[in-house]
Amino acid sequence: MRCVIVFCALLLSCDAQLAEVKPELNVTLHKGLSERIGNFSIELLYHTTLAQDKVSNLIISPITVWTVLAVLAEGASDSTLTQITTALRITPALKEAARREYQEIYKWLQVKTNTVELQRLNAMFMDVSNDLQKDFVDVAKEYDTHVIPANFSDSNTTTAAINSLVSSVTHGRIPMLVDSSSIENSKLVLTSVLYFKGQWTAPFNASYTTKQPFYDSSGNQIGEVNMMYRRHNYPFANIKTLQAKVLEIPYGKDNRLSMLIMLPNPGVSLNNMFYNFGNESLDTIFNELKISAEQYSDDEVDCLLPRFKIETSLELTDALKKMGIIDLFDERKARLPLMAYLPTHVSRIIHKAEIEVTEEGTVASAATAAFLGNRIGALKFEANKPFCYLIVEKVTNSITFGGFYHTPSLF
Ligand SMILES: *[C@@H]1O[C@H](CO)[C@@H](O)[C@H](O)[C@H]1NC(C)=O
Ligand SMILES: *[C@@H]1O[C@H](CO)[C@@H](O)[C@H](O)[C@H]1NC(C)=O
Ligand SMILES: *[C@@H]1O[C@H](CO)[C@@H](O)[C@H](O)[C@H]1NC(C)=O
Ligand SMILES: *[C@@H]1O[C@H](CO)[C@@H](O)[C@H](O)[C@H]1NC(C)=O
Ligand SMILES: *[C@@H]1O[C@H](CO)[C@@H](O)[C@H](O)[C@H]1NC(C)=O
Ligand SMILES: *[C@@H]1O[C@H](CO)[C@@H](O)[C@H](O)[C@H]1NC(C)=O
Repeated sequence: MRCVIVFCALLLSCDAQLAEVKPELNVTLHKGLSERIGNFSIELLYHTTLAQDKVSNLIISPITVWTVLAVLAEGASDSTLTQITTALRITPALKEAARREYQEIYKWLQVKTNTVELQRLNAMFMDVSNDLQKDFVDVAKEYDTHVIPANFSDSNTTTAAINSLVSSVTHGRIPMLVDSSSIENSKLVLTSVLYFKGQWTAPFNASYTTKQPFYDSSGNQIGEVNMMYRRHNYPFANIKTLQAKVLEIPYGKDNRLSMLIMLPNPGVSLNNMFYNFGNESLDTIFNELKISAEQYSDDEVDCLLPRFKIETSLELTDALKKMGIIDLFDERKARLPLMAYLPTHVSRIIHKAEIEVTEEGTVASAATAAFLGNRIGALKFEANKPFCYLIVEKVTNSITFGGFYHTPSLF
């Protein structure tokens, strides 16, 4: 039996009205599972970028990958199980506690306001002939994974059902996740979808967007971008251990979701900066951002950020193998007895995601270069060389989306 796993994630973000609400964060959910998922997320981003055969821009949704693997762990035994739980940083014996904590976190990954929308859906399509273990189906539900029966012999109908569900959650942004040939030999397809649309708390004004050069880490110009500009009192910190500057750009009105832009110091490569991130917690970074926001609340930052769009469709198998998950993909070694009666392994894990970062698209760009000059008192944060971005849900410290921008283009 073959088992294909597919999941996708999508992000679309633009901007909106100004709002200055900054409630205190409740950090009780930052410890425990949340921190483990965070560490997994950073490792996954690191290995995904290393596994790319050529350097290109990247967007992935680490928490959806974590979720799919956690569901698989519930069906696994022997070294298949321990390899997954080690990478996920959960203890097999404490799976039940992990499920409870996950539900607590997952609750927060749903938002629907005028300015921010975050939707998620996990679904497992299983063949009508597939004898899934009943306990597994029940446990999957605890990970909020719906089980949907389908007839895999009729692959066109099943493909249409999967695509239509994914398309409806992503508001049509991912109309075709699978084609019928890719599910032909499968008996099971697991999908995890996350959709985000956020408007900046302080939008960029498109009249200030200008064409600007973009450099590589060594300072050579490698292309041009449409650079957005905004002066605002963004939380900003210089994190020495990261060898990077970090800027927080909040979404919406309730200070729940933010984009963090991490820009390496001169002479530091993106990979090195990100490697350092493995030793740093998100809490430390947010604390430094908070301290700087309090101490320098009047300091404005000139933020220059390229308008960009990234679409990623990648196989995560290699990155996950680097993280020690090996047997799951091996037809002979995979052990998933708690999931299905027949021998089952995972043939592929496909991840599709998309991000679009803009100011507000319809305003004509008429730029004045002089405007970009650095006034006394304003700090300058210029993302004109490779950077990392993370979209973080702050109540739970979840990295919902993250990636790298290093290949410029005029979007
Ligand atoms: C923080 O969140 C936890 C869990 O949701 C809750 O039990 C606690 O009362 C909250 N604390 C504050 C200060 O709001
Ligand atoms: C599944 O689809 C095949 C091909 O269309 C059909 O022959 C079969 O009867 C279907 N099975 C069920 C249980 O509906
Ligand atoms: C499935 O769709 C493909 C492409 O649209 C088509 O060529 C094929 O005949 C269809 N198969 C069935 C059984 O309907
Ligand atoms: C954007 O800037 C232009 C030029 O300064 C100004 O006329 C316009 O009102 C601004 N738009 C917004 C939405 O602030
Ligand atoms: C991370 O911390 C460990 C233990 O303190 C240390 O051995 C390692 O060199 C550090 N890695 C980086 C990238 O700083
Ligand atoms: C997560 O990573 C941080 C930084 O390396 C480390 O201090 C912490 O112990 C890790 N937590 C877990 C649960 O692995």
